[in-house]
Amino acid sequence: MVALTTGQVVAQPMLNAGNIDEVIKAMTIEEKVNMLLGCGQSFGGEVKFPGTAGRTYDIPRLGVESAYLADGPHRLHMTKTREWDSKTYITTEFPSETNVAALFDTDAAYQIGQAIGAEVRDFGLDVLLAPGVNLMRSSLCGRNNEYYSEDPVLAGKIAAGFINGIQSEGSGTCLKHFAINNQETNRNNNDSRLSQRALRELYLKNFEIAVKESNPWSIMTSYNRAQGLYTCENRDLTETILRDEWGWNGLVMSDWNAGKDAVASIKAGNDMLQPGQQGQREALLKAANDGSLDMALIDLSVKRVLEFVLKCHTPNGYVYPNETDLKGHAALVRQIGAESMVLLKNADNTLPFNPAAHRGFAAKRGVALYGVTSYEMVPAAMGFGGTNVGPYIVSLVEAARNAGMAPDMTLAATYKKHIAEKNKENYPNGVPAFSITAPLRASEWVPSAEVLAENVKNNDIAIITLGRTSGEGADRKREHFFLTDEEKDLLKVVAEAYHKVDKKVIAVLNVCGPIETAAITEYADAILCAFEPGQECGNSVMDVLTGKVNPSGRLPMTWQVAFGDAPADQNFPADYVFDMSMFARAYSKDAAEKAQITKAPELVRNVDYTEYQEGIYIGYRYFDTFGKAVAFPFGHGLSYTTFGYEIVSSGINGDECQLEVKVTNTGDRAGREAVQAYVKAPKGKLDKPAKELKAFAKTKSLEPGESQVVTLKWKTMDMA
Ligand code: GLC
Repeated sequence: MVALTTGQVVAQPMLNAGNIDEVIKAMTIEEKVNMLLGCGQSFGGEVKFPGTAGRTYDIPRLGVESAYLADGPHRLHMTKTREWDSKTYITTEFPSETNVAALFDTDAAYQIGQAIGAEVRDFGLDVLLAPGVNLMRSSLCGRNNEYYSEDPVLAGKIAAGFINGIQSEGSGTCLKHFAINNQETNRNNNDSRLSQRALRELYLKNFEIAVKESNPWSIMTSYNRAQGLYTCENRDLTETILRDEWGWNGLVMSDWNAGKDAVASIKAGNDMLQPGQQGQREALLKAANDGSLDMALIDLSVKRVLEFVLKCHTPNGYVYPNETDLKGHAALVRQIGAESMVLLKNADNTLPFNPAAHRGFAAKRGVALYGVTSYEMVPAAMGFGGTNVGPYIVSLVEAARNAGMAPDMTLAATYKKHIAEKNKENYPNGVPAFSITAPLRASEWVPSAEVLAENVKNNDIAIITLGRTSGEGADRKREHFFLTDEEKDLLKVVAEAYHKVDKKVIAVLNVCGPIETAAITEYADAILCAFEPGQECGNSVMDVLTGKVNPSGRLPMTWQVAFGDAPADQNFPADYVFDMSMFARAYSKDAAEKAQITKAPELVRNVDYTEYQEGIYIGYRYFDTFGKAVAFPFGHGLSYTTFGYEIVSSGINGDECQLEVKVTNTGDRAGREAVQAYVKAPKGKLDKPAKELKAFAKTKSLEPGESQVVTLKWKTMDMA
């Protein structure tokens, strides 16, 4: 019961979907302001879900419970153990977002969403802070492996599939990072400067498609500024465009410790500031009490928070089992991880190879695994949304054994020793289980001629795995794009040794994004791009190499020949050594002032601001339009079979363009095809890209000779 000022005692409202306005009326100003803030970071201390991202405020007297938020995008991120708790909290490490996009299959994205949505619910959380859809403007952005593509249609539609999958399980999502967040260097302050056309046709288009095809429960604004304003303080973005134009009415939350001015955020329609800082609370209370922040605006944001919370499991008293279908999800990861891989090259049908011994005697077929990444595979991204603390990571050694082959264990022992030595050098205090920036990778070891002669005698096939990883907080550097001298030497000596006796060399790219491939194409008979396929990575790779799975991934981003070929490369901090002290520092006015004062007097290009001088010409929009050669184009990917196409019908009815395509498997193996429809717009006043992806469709698995008609649709307005 609550005693009102008039002394009357009335039954106080307890929150439910029908009395939100009444509950808001019963709130004190402090309670309203608290609803606009999170309850602090959820690391350590006595929190309900250690290692998750945060929660919304609770007001027990009004029946307002917290909603619990945790990172993705490819894993429910929690610490594995909790104080005074005998359980171990294991969640599945799903394929990275880049792998999911490479499938060109919204149904597969939906399936992954369902599985991770179930894990969020089963462990008692409410909302997964995912997916990230920011475009891969540069191949070096540190979070590209947490994003989908360089193309807004692919990114937007895959995101929508993923969001619908999660929300079909009653768990929430948070589409992020809204918007124009395309580098990690100085991400808290960098100002993205771009044309309205690039903004509308590219950097907002992915969000627009996702919002209109899935209706995410929440959207997270980004750290950066755009055209000078923090995105979490820019009403044009979070009210005018997001709500008025796109008709979306969910909750907008900030990124963690983003922005500088809490009052400006609420005025802009950024309803909640996570994880919530005392300085923000004081600023909001002051503004609420002195009237400089309109109470109607506060009530509007509080209402959006309450509507968001009421959708969640927790307030609906869901009793969660604290266990989930890890086995079923692991099988899904292995299958989707394999299917998503992109077969870049397959000379003389090197792949698939038969894992069984082919020399007719009992010995198992020997396989020599080269490259440190064969032994320490990269399952997914690094950083808060990242992992490498998943349940397990299947190496190629284990996977080769699972496939019935004999990995060369002398070679494995050599690599094990080498990796240990390099890790000791790189991490004198031990390899961090969790790293915010791209971990230093052990440099490659190049076998001597003697070792190689021995290897060639004992093995029929050589697999060289090259690895790259990255994560939030830092971008890859220019040199990370190129191969190291050791990597080139390794490719060369292995290829020469094995080709001399007509044995094949396969390159596996377990990478967070594009790298230089000239030397790989020169020396390897086949190249499989695995990206970061999740916890089953070695098994997924072997399933493809041995033909258990016919890969049907297509590149969701262009693989350029060299960093520097793309115009955006000229406006990217490819060489800047980022100072970690700038990373996500706790918000407070004086710290911000101090940081301002310490900042160099002149603004540093590509650090304090980044000019998107390339306009709309990123990725294939640039390379196709200006006829610049690439290593492997967007949408590229080979199969173990071949497909025939026949356009059954094409036309425009009303405002919808429709294309029906009959796809036939004309090869001798079952397989799936990703059909892509590009539009070349007529030359008008405006310059236009040579072509733009407008729709795509994935066939089911077609048996040899089998056909399927797929329909691709898009709106005429999508071509505006
Ligand atoms: C991080 C990331 C964001 C994440 C949030 C919570 O800094 O930018 O993607 O969801 O903070 O951890």
